[in-house]
Amino acid sequence: MAGNIFGKLFKLTTFGESHGRAIGGIIDGCPAGIKLDLEAIQNDLDRRKPGQSAIVTQRKESDTVEFLSGIFEGVTTGTPIGFEIRNEDQKSKDYSHIKDSFRPSHADYVYEKKYGTRDYRGGGRSSARETASRVVAGAVAKQLLKDIEIKAYVSAVGEIKLDKSYTELNLTQEENIVRCPDTATAQKMEAYIKEIRKQGDTVGGVVSCVIKNVPIGLGEPVFDKLHAELGKAMLSINAVKGFEYGSGFEGAAMKGSDHNDLYNEDGSTKTNFSGGIQGGISNGMDIYFNVAFKPVATLIQEQTTLDKKGNMVKMQGKGRHDPCVVPRAVPIVEAMTALVLADYFLLDKVSRY
Ligand SMILES: Cc1cc2nc3c(=O)[nH]c(=O)nc-3n(C[C@H](O)[C@H](O)[C@H](O)COP(=O)(O)O)c2cc1C
Repeated sequence: MAGNIFGKLFKLTTFGESHGRAIGGIIDGCPAGIKLDLEAIQNDLDRRKPGQSAIVTQRKESDTVEFLSGIFEGVTTGTPIGFEIRNEDQKSKDYSHIKDSFRPSHADYVYEKKYGTRDYRGGGRSSARETASRVVAGAVAKQLLKDIEIKAYVSAVGEIKLDKSYTELNLTQEENIVRCPDTATAQKMEAYIKEIRKQGDTVGGVVSCVIKNVPIGLGEPVFDKLHAELGKAMLSINAVKGFEYGSGFEGAAMKGSDHNDLYNEDGSTKTNFSGGIQGGISNGMDIYFNVAFKPVATLIQEQTTLDKKGNMVKMQGKGRHDPCVVPRAVPIVEAMTALVLADYFLLDKVSRY
């Protein structure tokens, strides 16, 4: 099964299944000499981990990262950084009902058809548990990026939308379990997620992300445009259905005379519909984008589905699941952003003399 490696120079390979012994990864290409703040890495993992609040899956994992190589006396050595996170709270019995049947809109059917075999326990490799490894690597990448600031937050849960732009929000601290930086909206979102959970249902949402202090020049023309790589990074996250940056889909309804970002004398722009990227290259303005997550597939409600023999059968989800993934997806979006920027930061160093 290919497709487990992300990045060109700052490269992450992840391994592991939801109910195997461990998940983890190898970061290859991280430069030597970075003094790592290991607490900050664990802190990002804690923001993603299950069981952290009443509105996420109640699987209890400590999600403690153990580094195996590539770091000596707290400093990167330039050799591959290997790390592992043990799986501690697997309840594989909860998944016996999907051994021979396929959850609608999950990855069960396509894995079975493509590979002829699958680790059905907790969704195996298709489980978002894999994204914990991305969060570790992303937290390392953040430390390489130093002054570049990456902040993601929840901007919609179902129909409840935050009606403020990032420039009006204080993004310095996460103040609630939804990770929406507006208290009144966050309270509505929290109540709605709790209601959805009671119904045994799920709901989608949007994570927005802002990158500040980006130097001019990150991004390679043609196929490796910065926004194309960000798009790929975001669309590789489980349950993501949409990506837009800058004016996004709303820009399609505008006139050029309104949409053009006019220059100030210092090269900054008066508006930022471009979302900080022009021609695939960062222009020094803030980069901002939205990532749409679907309502996840596993419902604690009965649905009709297909089994391996081609029969229509009744299925009701069991086990511990997220009614809405966006609060836990915030650190994942940040991590994938950091991986892209670290990679493009290093690529920039070899792309001009
Ligand atoms: C943080 C996070 C948690 C998730 N938790 C669940 C879950 O509890 N139940 C579920 O069915 N899907 C969950 N998913 C989504 C599945 O992993 C995903 O839908 C599945 O792999 C199929 O891929 P696709 O939806 O991208 O097509 C989660 C996704 C994320 C990002």
